[in-house]
Amino acid sequence: MQTITITGGQTLHGQIRPAGAKNSVLPLLAATLLCGAPCRLCGVPRLADVDTSLALLRAVGAKAVRKGADICTQPAAPEVLCGEIPEALAGAMRSSVFYLAPLLCRAGSVRLPLPGGCRLGPRPVDIHLAGLAAMGAQVELEGEAVMLRRLGPLRGVDFTLRLPSVGATITLLLAACCAQGTTVLRGAACEPEVCDLAGFLRACGAQITGAGTPVIVVQGRRALGGVSYTPLPDRIAAATYAAALAAAGGQVAVTGCLPQYYGAFLHFLQDCGVQIEPDGDTVRLARDPARPLRGGQQLFANAWPAFATDTAPLAAAVLLRADAPSEIYDHLFADRFACAAGFAAMGAVCTAAGRRLTIAGGARLHGAAVTAPDLRGGAALAVAALAAEGTTQLRDPGHIRRGYADLPGDLAALGAVCRAAAG
Ligand code: EPZ
Repeated sequence: MQTITITGGQTLHGQIRPAGAKNSVLPLLAATLLCGAPCRLCGVPRLADVDTSLALLRAVGAKAVRKGADICTQPAAPEVLCGEIPEALAGAMRSSVFYLAPLLCRAGSVRLPLPGGCRLGPRPVDIHLAGLAAMGAQVELEGEAVMLRRLGPLRGVDFTLRLPSVGATITLLLAACCAQGTTVLRGAACEPEVCDLAGFLRACGAQITGAGTPVIVVQGRRALGGVSYTPLPDRIAAATYAAALAAAGGQVAVTGCLPQYYGAFLHFLQDCGVQIEPDGDTVRLARDPARPLRGGQQLFANAWPAFATDTAPLAAAVLLRADAPSEIYDHLFADRFACAAGFAAMGAVCTAAGRRLTIAGGARLHGAAVTAPDLRGGAALAVAALAAEGTTQLRDPGHIRRGYADLPGDLAALGAVCRAAAG
């Protein structure tokens, strides 16, 4: 357990560059299992989920090592790969699900115990399984684990996802690269991280068109080589720094991340009264802390290009002190706002009822002892603490380090009074 201590009331100044995106890096690491030559992923942040992925790759027989900021992988022959994903690694992160398709294709079978990750409400994997079954996989449920086998090669299909799941689109994109013939994925997720995976696979030799639109077409069975690839910058980390500036006031430049990757969030901050000045891949943000933020916001989190669900708790943290009530509705996750209890402990008046968070606004926040309920909820509590009077002790049972290499260090570098200690 780490405790992050934040004393609010300091404005933030300086510039900060988000690292490579967690939600790009994790599928890319799984995708390297499909490659017949070494790969290098450049600028990979030291996240707990990256460490878990490296452990998982090694556990199934692949070779992956960190070299400074990069991760280097070696191709693994099918006979050295094992399709048994250890329970502790599967349960440590949701992204263990990204190993289903590569191991099914390369090792011939895969057993995945229940994937872990943030508890945001039910997170079934039915679309992943339905798509793989349509490609010819045999799917069996063994208690809380799923077992997949294939007798011959997977075959290309025309498959419609019942909703644009990011994870299922990634699974089926990976499987389609190995399947015989053409796969058409309809109703696919359009998130930038899906495009990034397609970019990586294309650079390795895959033939993929339409990534970033709801219809992706893959010509399968191309031998994939290796590549040196730099993942996208982390748009959710960029939004986190922007939210921190909005809560605390000051002047901050977020560099190295195109504003369109978190455009909906920047638009929201502008509506609240934050000055936003985009300049290439830099966004300069400024806010006078003496002037209240504008509330009265109605936000709807949904799949790309809508307001991102991962930024919904961050938006909530910004709105706690705004001059009027606001409401956020999350279409994707049934329990996105577990951070509301922490906000309330800090003096906010807000109510989470299912997918809806209602925020009274006008709160005078004070420091409190709070616990990170999940990754983005934990980051949101840190953002709220920047605007609170006094000191907040944010206990983190390991969620925040799954998505930010050093959030307390990042905030301190911008001038926040913030430090982390074990225990
Ligand atoms: C990815 O999760 C991200 N995680 C999440 O990031 C992000 O919140 C989410 O996409 C939405 O953008 C990673 O990329 C590792 P989904 P994923 O499948 O793939 C339902 C973070 O903090 N669904 O698009 O799990 C599901 O229950 C996080 O970085 C099914 O019903 O998201 C949810 O309601 C957490 N059946 C909705 O779809 C399925 O088979 C969206 O989930 C799959 C999903």
